[in-house]
This record gives sequence, C-alpha cells and structure tokens, in this order.
Amino acid sequence: MHILLTGGAGYIGTHVMLCCLEAGHSVTVVDDFSNSSPKAIARVEALAGCRVVFHQGDIRDAALLDRVFQESKIDTVLHFAGLKAVNESVENPLSYYDVNVGGTIALAQAMGRAGVFRLVFSSTASVYGEQEKMPLTESSPIDDPTSPYGRSKRMVEQILEDHCASDPRWAIAVLRYFNPAGAHISGQIGEDPRGTPANLIPYATQVAIGQRAALSVFGNDYPTPDGTGVRDYIHVMDLAAGHLMAVDYLRMHMGYRVWNLGTGRGHSVLQIVQELENIIGKPLPTNFAERRSGDIAQCWADPARAERELGWRAQHDLNEMLADHWRWQKLNPKGYDS
Ligand code: NAD
Ligand code: WQD
Repeated sequence: MHILLTGGAGYIGTHVMLCCLEAGHSVTVVDDFSNSSPKAIARVEALAGCRVVFHQGDIRDAALLDRVFQESKIDTVLHFAGLKAVNESVENPLSYYDVNVGGTIALAQAMGRAGVFRLVFSSTASVYGEQEKMPLTESSPIDDPTSPYGRSKRMVEQILEDHCASDPRWAIAVLRYFNPAGAHISGQIGEDPRGTPANLIPYATQVAIGQRAALSVFGNDYPTPDGTGVRDYIHVMDLAAGHLMAVDYLRMHMGYRVWNLGTGRGHSVLQIVQELENIIGKPLPTNFAERRSGDIAQCWADPARAERELGWRAQHDLNEMLADHWRWQKLNPKGYDS
C-alpha cells in the first residue's frame, strides 16, 4: 500500500513511518517542520534502508495536497500533523483551532477530491477531560476537555463522524492515544521537544542527563495512592503497531470507529521517577511544586475494544519505555541537532 503520513517527521510519525516501511508499504510524508527536523526522516530512511517521498508544506495548503495526491496513488492517510502543547493552546487558541480543525478539514476535502477515503486520525485522551470513573472507555463522556487543545481534537472527532455519516465511501479510524513515551530501540529516533519540554518523561530524562537542574513534581495532594498525578504511559512502538492494525481494519470496514490506545495501567509521577532512577543508577533531583493549572488527578484507559476489534495490545512495559527513552536521550543529548 502507499500511505500518506501528515506530520510524519514528528515524534509519533517517525516511529509509525518506520513500521510502515518495515511492513513493506510505500510512504509519502507532508510536514512543514514547524515542530520537527528533516534529519528525522533521514534517520528513518537509514533504519529502514529505503526512501520515502517527501513534501515540505502546510496541510492547510489545498494546492499542495492536490499535488501530493496526484503524484502518488495513496491508499490510506495517517493524519498526525497538528499542534499539541496544552499550555500554548490556552495562550493561542486560534492557531490550535486553525491548524488542528482547519487543517483536518482541508485534508479531508483534498482526500475527497482525490478519491481517497481511508483516514486514521491522531486523537488524544485529553478529549475525556476530568472524569471520576476509571478506566476510560470509548463511551466515557467527551463533553468537557480541559484545554483548547483537547477541544480542538474533540471537534475534529465530531466533524469526522458527521462527514463519515454523510458519505458511505469513507472509512475513518480515530485513535485516542494516552501518554506516549519511549523511543525506537536503536536510539536513532525519538522525541525531540523544542525548548522546555512540557511533558514529564522528556523533562525527567533532560534532568537525568544534566541539561536541567531538577524535576518539579506538580502537586502531591491529588486523591491518588501517593498524591501525585497518575497517567497511562504507552510505548510509542506500541502506538505504531496500533496504526498498522487500524490501516488493516480500514481495508475491510467502512464507517467511523474510535479506539483507545493505552496499556490499561496507571503510574504516578513518583513511580516514574523511581523507575527512571533505577535505570540511570542514581537519584534524580526532584522537588515538589504547586499543581499545574488544567491538570487532572488520574487517567488510564480501558483498551479492551482495541484488543477485541484490532487484535492490538500494548507489549512494552514501563521499564522498557523509560530505558528506550533514556537511550535516545543519551545518544542524542540535543535531539536531532546533537
Ligand atoms: P509532533 O509535534 O512531534 O509531530 C507533529 C508534526 O506535525 C511535526 O512534525 C510538525 O512539524 C507537523 N506539523 C504541525 N503543523 C503542521 C502543519 N500545519 N502542516 C504540516 N505539518 C505540520 O507531535 P507528535 O507527538 O508526533 O503528535 C502527533 C499527533 O498525535 C498530533 O496530532 C498530536 O496532537 C497527537 N497526540 C500526541 C500525543 C503526545 O503526547 N505526543 C498524545 C496524544 C495525541
Ligand atoms: C504527566 C504527569 C503532570 C511535567 C499531556 C496532554 C495530552 C497528551 C500528553 C497530546 C502529570 C506531571 C509533568 C513535569 C510533573 N498530549 N508532571 N512535572 O498532562 O497527562 O498529558 O501530554 O495529546 O493531551 O494533555 O502529560 O507528561 O505533561 O504530565 O510533575 O515537569 O506528570 O502534572 O501528572 P499530561 P504530562
């Protein structure tokens, strides 16, 4: 198959791209490098031993998308391109709605013009917002995400569901990722945050390597076993495997379907710190700080639907996830610019 990856140069896109190439698919990437580097694509090509078709540009550029679809006969689109920083989305909501919502509409329109009707969309557990009942199933309410970022993803889900209902030719898979972490085992590709990392694991590994002084643990008075926030961390290679299974599913099934991609297990911030300390073999400087605005206490997935319908289940545990993230950090202390 020929698969188009929007945002393919980013953290999750690079890992999925590698798995697509290893599975024998051809790949086209569209990325504007607003949050990534061309070096990431070169690393994937070196690991896979083959080349991809690449277009630098914005998914909101209809003429570019038309050229992309004319140039290669695309079977399925994996749509990663988007903005993902929760804090930034509070400061600049219009650009989040423009890129995440407007960009997806532009992509779906271009797909329709080209006669390509299979789409996998990167959604997030952020659509669930704060919930009392754990684990989260795909039927848990999504009416109150806590940020413009989460709301932009929820809007896209709604738009895609409406679009699918209006035209029986479409097959759309929505994957709600929980908290992605880890890296390919080679240490050649991984997460390369620009500036100060917003997420726990990249921040912690930058502390471990000495680039940052200490990890601030945001809140130790949550109603969780040790008072710190609990999340469902999922290895990026498990996410990648889930995408390939969704691509296969869409060959046989029309319509709109949503799946959680999580492990079904929650870990607290202090558990992450302890596990990372075991891996790096020394204490990680930490301090307790105020709760971060907009944070929820806990969140983990019920991944049963993905197991039942896709045959997908997370294979990597927390130790492997942190060891792989740490290997990438050590080999590439400054990311792709190391
Ligand atoms: P990322 O920022 O590493 O990758 C996104 C890629 O999209 C980048 O390469 C960026 O340059 C590109 N991009 C951004 N705007 C674009 C535009 N207008 N046109 C073309 N390219 C554009 O992010 P990621 O972690 O790989 O996330 C991929 C997707 O998964 C995003 O949609 C994100 O919202 C979603 N997601 C991520 C997480 C996470 O924690 N990483 C969790 C849940 C969902
Ligand atoms: C995890 C835990 C923090 C940093 C966000 C998005 C979500 C998804 C993943 C895109 C929380 C604590 C963090 C630090 C800390 N992204 N923490 N010190 O907030 O669950 O999810 O990223 O879709 O949509 O909302 O992930 O890694 O930021 O935080 O104590 O320096 O670590 O308070 O409990 P989060 P995170």
